[in-house]
Amino acid sequence: MSINDGDAATGSASFADAEARSARLEAALQREPAAHRVLTGDRPTGPLHLGHYFGTLQNRVRLQNLGVQLFVLVADYQTITDRDSPASLPEDVDALVADYLAAGIDPQRATIFAHSQVEGLNQLLLPFLSLVSVAEMGRNPTVKDELAASGQPAMSGLMFTYPVHQAADILFCKGTVVPVGRDQLPHLEIARLIARRFNRKYSPERPYFPEPDALLSNAPLLLGTDGQKMSKSRNNSIPLGATADETAKLIGRAKTDADRHITYNPAARPEVSNLVLLAALCSGRSPEAIAAEAGDGGSATLKRLVTEAVNEHFREIRRRRAELLGDRGHLRQVLLAGNARARDIANQTLADVRRLMHTSYG
Ligand code: TRP
Repeated sequence: MSINDGDAATGSASFADAEARSARLEAALQREPAAHRVLTGDRPTGPLHLGHYFGTLQNRVRLQNLGVQLFVLVADYQTITDRDSPASLPEDVDALVADYLAAGIDPQRATIFAHSQVEGLNQLLLPFLSLVSVAEMGRNPTVKDELAASGQPAMSGLMFTYPVHQAADILFCKGTVVPVGRDQLPHLEIARLIARRFNRKYSPERPYFPEPDALLSNAPLLLGTDGQKMSKSRNNSIPLGATADETAKLIGRAKTDADRHITYNPAARPEVSNLVLLAALCSGRSPEAIAAEAGDGGSATLKRLVTEAVNEHFREIRRRRAELLGDRGHLRQVLLAGNARARDIANQTLADVRRLMHTSYG
């Protein structure tokens, strides 16, 4: 069987499809949470910020509390593909684990692991690579964006094949639900393709890998303090672990406009509306109510409201985060336990895959 068997990797209809599937998935999660395994992760490139918190962390905690099985992956290999020096990885990995725990991911219920430590997961890369063509990998727009963002002069083989590695991240534990941003949809499309082709080729009677679905966030997009996408490299982010004073300074510097009457109108007033949104997300009130409270007080009043709301909402999370970072041994314990659990699952999957591929001679 050829690998190009009529499955398109990313069709033009796929975005609308992904949205429709995501909505159905949310309903299925509510109905039967324990039947779903959620796998998602982050590159350990430094402390997480409020964009991560409202964009994805909060949702992971919600899913965990709903009763789904949650796997959270520290994508350290991916960091190696897009960074010059990995020397800061140990600190960055600890900080990421601290962010997870402080935000409410519970290591008793969730599995937090680093994919470089799970040999069986990485070995899946070889059979999976045989199921996609070079042309299909070359068409992935996210890999091209990631190369541009990395500042690396050339595409390495690992970066080129990264979506296939990501498929191994998801499929090793038979993840069915992958909460990701829209930029990750092309990667997920490749994971779905690999699951389908593996099943068709090696397990036609009984599909072995479930086809994972993206769970798209419906959280409103929080921008940075300059009104651009919030990102550490743009210097416009508010870290989860910022102190109350640092938060006041960062918000004090935020871009606003000259109209003293505060309103919530993201299209016409993106910077002011973003601050209003941030206060709303932190306080559980509507953006309109926040804008009305700021009234004619101008940006100074708005910034005071926002600073108070952020510091109030994150006080306990920040206290826990600082405490966790004071006990690195505990953070490592959490990661080691997660790695061990992931390794057991990966070894079982690899044994099944070997059996199905007729490469098991024991
Ligand atoms: N590529 C993702 C990112 O850049 C991180 C990631 C790696 C991931 N493996 C994953 C996300 C598996 C979801 C599932 O953010």
